[in-house]
Amino acid sequence: MQVTIIGTGYVGLVSGICFSEFGFEVTCVDLDADKIDALNSGVLPIYEPGLDRLMEQNRQRLTFTTDFDSAVAQADVVFVAVGTPSRRGDGEADLQYVHAAAKQIARSIKPETVIVLKSTVVVGTNAEVQRIIEAERPGVPFSLASNPEFLREGSAIEDFMRPDRVVVGVRDKRAESVLQQIYRPLYLRDAPIVVTTPENAELIKYAANAFLAMKITFINEVADLCEQTGGNVQEVAKAIGLDNRIGGKFLHAGPGFGGSCFPKDTRAFAATGRKYGAAQNLIESVVSVNEARKKAMAQKILAELGDTPRGKTVGILGLAFKPNTDDMREAPSLAVIPVLEAAGVDVKAHDPQAMGEAKSFLPNTQFCDSAEDAITDVDVAVIMTEWNVYRALDMQTVKKLMRGDVVIDLRNIYPVDAVEDAGLTYVSVGRSRTK
Ligand code: UDX
Repeated sequence: MQVTIIGTGYVGLVSGICFSEFGFEVTCVDLDADKIDALNSGVLPIYEPGLDRLMEQNRQRLTFTTDFDSAVAQADVVFVAVGTPSRRGDGEADLQYVHAAAKQIARSIKPETVIVLKSTVVVGTNAEVQRIIEAERPGVPFSLASNPEFLREGSAIEDFMRPDRVVVGVRDKRAESVLQQIYRPLYLRDAPIVVTTPENAELIKYAANAFLAMKITFINEVADLCEQTGGNVQEVAKAIGLDNRIGGKFLHAGPGFGGSCFPKDTRAFAATGRKYGAAQNLIESVVSVNEARKKAMAQKILAELGDTPRGKTVGILGLAFKPNTDDMREAPSLAVIPVLEAAGVDVKAHDPQAMGEAKSFLPNTQFCDSAEDAITDVDVAVIMTEWNVYRALDMQTVKKLMRGDVVIDLRNIYPVDAVEDAGLTYVSVGRSRTK
């Protein structure tokens, strides 16, 4: 079966390469010729652990091209994995790229092609795309499905190969059988395939992400209460998570969620609620609370610099929105560092993967080649992203390298006493500070 993927971003590229690993012939299409040239020379435009090796292993089944029409004309299945960014202002998902792709796909599909919306799209988009294709190519038989992704950056291959479930929204049996065939290799791992309507598939994607974002925001607010009452949010999270109705995952308090999905999807879900008169009040709060939290982290750091932050230096460990990715989209570091610099603080920073991406967002920041460099002679050191490389810092060395003695750990990587024993002041999230 010939598979074509429209869009070579995090979702399109991971999906295309994983489908080629299943043994399918896969053509990945992008309008960005530089991206396609890089892929054809074996260079990935994104950092995703293991993806380069998987691409290399399946190179003979992979084609990268900007030739949209021929890639569609030869396909049995066309996946749409183009971006659906937040629209300025109301946060609604911007569907222009999906609509444009649908129109162009319609012009080239052969009869009986199955078109699959993998992009995260608001409820009703599948029906809209159905209308666009029918209008563009009257009479041509095709099937349209929705197949949202649940890939986490940094573990996308694992999430693709061992999903908790595959969601398929279809209107006809042909689309259902083709998608069952495409995902058959996952049967071996009995990954349940949920077959439902396109509308349900669209709602499931947003509801899942909105719920996860809400769960994180919940524990972040509990962390604030713990700080005021001498509580320990890690112990509270562990104990509530032992209730299998709650579950222990996504209960790690931190600086607020970032990334290309949760911020965008919570805003879009809230906008959908407003649009249909079914307000998603909880998610409206998640959006505003999370935005405020990321800003509050800058104040948390400024509070440790005394009355005159101007001229002080802060070392930031971690810039990406989470570990194991180079993605800077809506990263907490981008809500924090400009505020520090506006207050006259000099900022040094390190990140194992994201400094290339970060440079364009942080023109005044000094980028360092190692964690040690980033905390040398700083008044305050901040752990912003929980990369493994920051999990085994020798606190005696940290104390020697720093000018000040305050370590702010926004990811609660260390036990409180491990830092205190080195004579440092340890400020973390949802746990009492040491001095
Ligand atoms: C998310 C969803 O998990 C995934 O299913 C969906 O397809 C895409 O969006 P992703 O954004 O890549 O994946 O990363 P994720 O691991 O979910 O983390 C999102 C944000 O939440 C990050 O900023 C992370 O630091 C934060 N987070 C996550 C917490 O603050 N605490 C947690 O316990 C978990």
